[in-house]
Amino acid sequence: MSLSTEKIIQLNKDYTLFEWNMQGGYAPLPVDHAKGVYFWDTDGKRFIDFNSQLMSVNIGHGDQRITQAVVAQMEKLAYANPYAATEARGVLGELLAKITPGNLKKSFFTLGGSEANENAVKIARMASGKHKILARYRSYHGGTAMSMGLTGDPRRWASEPQPPGIMRIPDPYYYRSRLKLTEAEFMQECLNQTEDVIKFEGPNNVAAIIMETVTGTNGIIIPTKEYYQGLRMLCDKYGIFLILDEVMCGFGRTGKMFACEHYGIAPDIMTMAKGLTSSYLPLGDCIVSEEIGKYFDNKVLYAGLTYGGHAVSCAAAIAAINIIIDDKLVEKAAATGAYLAQREDELKARHPSVGDVRHIGLFTIFELVKNQTTKEPMAPYNAGGKDMEVMNLVKKFFHDNGLFTFVRWNNFFVNPPLTITREELDEGLEIVDRALEITDEFVTA
Ligand SMILES: Cc1ncc(COP(=O)(O)O)c(C=O)c1O
Repeated sequence: MSLSTEKIIQLNKDYTLFEWNMQGGYAPLPVDHAKGVYFWDTDGKRFIDFNSQLMSVNIGHGDQRITQAVVAQMEKLAYANPYAATEARGVLGELLAKITPGNLKKSFFTLGGSEANENAVKIARMASGKHKILARYRSYHGGTAMSMGLTGDPRRWASEPQPPGIMRIPDPYYYRSRLKLTEAEFMQECLNQTEDVIKFEGPNNVAAIIMETVTGTNGIIIPTKEYYQGLRMLCDKYGIFLILDEVMCGFGRTGKMFACEHYGIAPDIMTMAKGLTSSYLPLGDCIVSEEIGKYFDNKVLYAGLTYGGHAVSCAAAIAAINIIIDDKLVEKAAATGAYLAQREDELKARHPSVGDVRHIGLFTIFELVKNQTTKEPMAPYNAGGKDMEVMNLVKKFFHDNGLFTFVRWNNFFVNPPLTITREELDEGLEIVDRALEITDEFVTA
């Protein structure tokens, strides 16, 4: 196939609908091929991928070891019905039980993160006999009915009314707290308010608390260790399952295999996708503790998907996880992440439009402000249209200079593949540095 760029865009626009966008006037980037930390558009322009596409191509682009694993599985068995046992499904299940923390043991495979969260809630409700779920506002858990309801950000609004039984607890987002507290006091206050919500809703009604261990698109919010230790204690005290959504922050992204390892806690249920196959093929997983798994020994698990445990996706996941382990990408992300943190702190010190930088491994964000003292954001919450004028200049500058990343409201992300070298990071950060000169012009006294 060798269609022109114009034709490719035209076909995409005429015959497909683009996610989370007004369709008219939308200009998709025509992506052609990719290798390592780079991809190229259909006109041959090269981009450094500072967002691993959707924070998901953790091992980098074009790794032929995945291709080989996928082809080998395809040649042997492409698909078996989900009631069947396959080698790939069993081997992946065992591997995940080994690398996940605590006593997480049994996997229920899905097609992506939304369905993983959807099934996490179903399982938590079945195994607890309770129905309420506590979630946060600054969160994204997926685009299907329940996962949309769990989601706190404005993407939820068009799907409302949300499914019944979802209540909100506070976000541990210290930078934008209005309370005059130290970080430790603020985290304790979040826990106190969470305990209040549990009491108001009735502990005997609350099945689970769900949260992204480190919040992704809603701002790389990184709580303290004490926060998570306290949260785990609250869950244990009231007999509530803790569901950690590691769809974005799992598989080495934060410099640990799973983000909850930073906090010394383990959830009762963990959801994952993205880095599970490094997005080479679609696959999600809802892994449950040994106890929850046992609950279904003599109870029917009312959940199922035609493509559950798809053999080819499982083969891709085994290969992707082994690459992360064999190439020591978790350790590499921790080391490169420390360098990135230092560079981002430097940029913050030099640019008055940077209000905050938050980083954990290669999971990082720049939060831009008009004024560092008042913290007035460079674009308001849920900004669109004219409110995005300044941030759109940043977006355009990145595009013109061959850097791809997500610019959202007053934030932009730096989440490259875990394979990135310091030299490649410097190449992208040089573009970031120049983009910040643009936003510095909009800082008010
Ligand atoms: C934290 C988190 N959970 C769930 C999802 C939904 O995953 P998917 O798009 O694979 O359904 C996403 C997607 O970005 C996510 O970031």
